[in-house]
Amino acid sequence: MKRIFITYGTSEGQSAKIANFIADVLREHGHDATVLDVNEAGNRIPGGCDGVIVGSSVHVGKHDKHVVDFVRKNQDVLSRTPSAFFSVSLAAHGDPAEAGKYIQQFEDETAWRPDKVALFEGALAYTQYGFIKRHLMKRIADSKPGNLGTDMSRDYVYTEWDGVRRFAEDFAAGFPEAGPMR
Ligand SMILES: Cc1cc2nc3c(=O)[nH]c(=O)nc-3n(C[C@H](O)[C@H](O)[C@H](O)COP(=O)(O)O)c2cc1C
Repeated sequence: MKRIFITYGTSEGQSAKIANFIADVLREHGHDATVLDVNEAGNRIPGGCDGVIVGSSVHVGKHDKHVVDFVRKNQDVLSRTPSAFFSVSLAAHGDPAEAGKYIQQFEDETAWRPDKVALFEGALAYTQYGFIKRHLMKRIADSKPGNLGTDMSRDYVYTEWDGVRRFAEDFAAGFPEAGPMR
């Protein structure tokens, strides 16, 4: 069993769902996974972790600034611990070149080179947005690739959970001695 720390930055909650899903998969594989919102992580990776996964959603072309700060402050531990980053955006659904640019920018800002990087499709949470944001997101959804939904009376979740599971399983496979949980 390995101790794996997962932290994430989220605005509307999709990255939190993804982080918790990853933790569940890791636990199925016999690991001890702890998940914390980056704002509750106290700016540090707990001692004794065997692996670290960091995630962030993208808003207005940028990853969460608290996640950027967290990564900068923990550069030392991240550079000597098996680590992975996942990015959550709408661009990951239909505009991979744009989603790739966000990653490039994040790596430039943090100087962190995770062992694995994943781009996950996020969600359009119209029912959670206020009036202005709802209409703004509808306009954006209409103009972007990926055939994004524009019915503001409902939410659209584009996350492909099989891909999230594969990412978590690939990460777990880096620790081959862990057996399945009994
Ligand atoms: C105000 C706003 C701005 C956004 N800007 C971008 C963007 O620049 N690029 C993108 O690909 N997705 C963008 N998104 C989509 C989010 O990345 C997507 O909704 C994601 O699921 C949010 O994750 P979270 O719920 O963890 O915050 C934006 C969403 C909102 C509400």
